[in-house]
Amino acid sequence: MPPTPRCEVGLSLRHLEKNFGGVRALADGSIKARRGEVHGILGENGAGKSTLIRVLSGVISRDGGEVILDGASLRLGSPAEALRAGIRTVFQESSLIPALTVAENVFFDRLPIGWHRRLRIRALHRLYASLMVALGARWLDPSVKVAALSVADRQLLEVAKAIGASPNVLILDEATSALSLADAEWVLHQVRRIADAGSVVLFVSHRLQEVKAIADRVTVLRSGRTVLEAKLDETISEDDLIEAMLGRRLARLYPKRQGVTHSGTLLRVDGLRAGTKLGPVDFMLKAGEILGLTALPGQGQRELLMSLSGDLRFNGGITLAGRRYAPRSPAEAQKHGVFMVPEDRQSEALFLRHSVQFNVTCSVLPVLTRGLGILDLRRERAVALSGANRVGLDSQRLVNPVATLSGGNQQKTIFARALLGQPRIFILFDSTRGVDVGTKADIYRLVTHLADKGVGVIFYSTDFTETLHVCDRIMVLHEGHIVGIAPAEAWNEETLLRYASGQPLARTGIRPGAQNMAN
Ligand SMILES: Nc1ncnc2c1ncn2[C@@H]1O[C@H](COP(=O)(O)OP(=O)(O)OP(=O)(O)O)[C@@H](O)[C@H]1O
Ligand SMILES: [Mg+2]
Repeated sequence: MPPTPRCEVGLSLRHLEKNFGGVRALADGSIKARRGEVHGILGENGAGKSTLIRVLSGVISRDGGEVILDGASLRLGSPAEALRAGIRTVFQESSLIPALTVAENVFFDRLPIGWHRRLRIRALHRLYASLMVALGARWLDPSVKVAALSVADRQLLEVAKAIGASPNVLILDEATSALSLADAEWVLHQVRRIADAGSVVLFVSHRLQEVKAIADRVTVLRSGRTVLEAKLDETISEDDLIEAMLGRRLARLYPKRQGVTHSGTLLRVDGLRAGTKLGPVDFMLKAGEILGLTALPGQGQRELLMSLSGDLRFNGGITLAGRRYAPRSPAEAQKHGVFMVPEDRQSEALFLRHSVQFNVTCSVLPVLTRGLGILDLRRERAVALSGANRVGLDSQRLVNPVATLSGGNQQKTIFARALLGQPRIFILFDSTRGVDVGTKADIYRLVTHLADKGVGVIFYSTDFTETLHVCDRIMVLHEGHIVGIAPAEAWNEETLLRYASGQPLARTGIRPGAQNMAN
């Protein structure tokens, strides 16, 4: 068979339409993706990217439009039909089965079964090992249950699973959003390899630099319509792409902090240990300070943030405004004014079947009840509205179940709730994950505004660039210890990555954690 010529149109989506009740998720979604190219899909939260991908994966049916693969029209009436066409998708929200092991998830549709229909575990683990080695993927223990994996590890596993199936069409819906730089690079490398082998690759990401680095062409969706299709070359700038996404130019992404003055110590952490991975760590946070935290996956950051937010028992001393602080639950932490926007929004933070309004106001409901425990509905509505306005959530959607919001808007819902609680310490656990640039700018502004009012902020992000721009000081965690802490100006992406990988540099002016307490 002659090799497939590059640039031949492989996958063509024509005028896709999809309505959910009164919501027009796709009005005219059109994409032409050639074989051999990585095709980026951009758009703000709620633009219709995931809807388009779910149509293409046979998960939901379309109301109109055509899908043509190599000249043949596809019906895509079910996920099985999409799989038969060689379409493999990494969905935005995990679709792994938590109760099964890592290896069982990867080989779910082709498990080696022996006598008496028993699973041949040794054979399964051999299959898994050879796949992971062939892909050069970071090793995850095949016998661990997926429920025990971090969001980042789950994402990595889903990518390995999808590319391990040698897809004809590979679709990644924000598959790198929780990944550290090193893991994301592995994904990009694999994506390029799959495209070079002649497959069609659709790549959705809110990390613009990543899209610019990997994609040959892009399609931008806005309000369910394709508004731009372009080759990614020098003639198109990041600002052009942002303008197409938002329908306006973005004045500035990162806020400027004027004359930052930090008052007294708000939080002091001494010899903190938690779980099997963390500690001892010592650091302190001043009122009005934004303290960045950077780490590669699994270095104890989860344990640290969960200890602070009352979700994990710890040893060692923490003082908050000079008084001992040892919360036994998130509710108790919140009583002390410590709020966290957690990492896994779907399982940890949202009541998916409840309304957006309930999800925003649930932590302050006791305050909103009148005598006899009756909820003051008008006040609840007003409070929800003010919360929604602060984060730019569409107020029309307050009555809808939160599960029907796009991923980024779900994140804003959690944000709105935390802000209602009048935080003294605000902890962000990779909170801009899956959030569009316009909303990112809003979140940075919110965080800066909180800090300007004296709130202490702990800002953990897998995105080094934003950490460098938003934080006053940054500490790096490696194998459970703080290996460097210094003002943000002293760091750059390279030094952050080096410290995070456990290779600190001599003579950088960055000192190990404990000695730099007074910085
Ligand atoms: N099951 C559903 N019921 C009602 N509305 C829905 C449903 N699924 C999606 N929508 C709506 O369709 C629109 C498009 O959502 P979609 O998830 O495709 O956006 P997206 O571009 O992927 O956004 P994000 O960047 O936040 O992931 C949004 O307004 C969303 O609220
Ligand atoms: Mg989406």
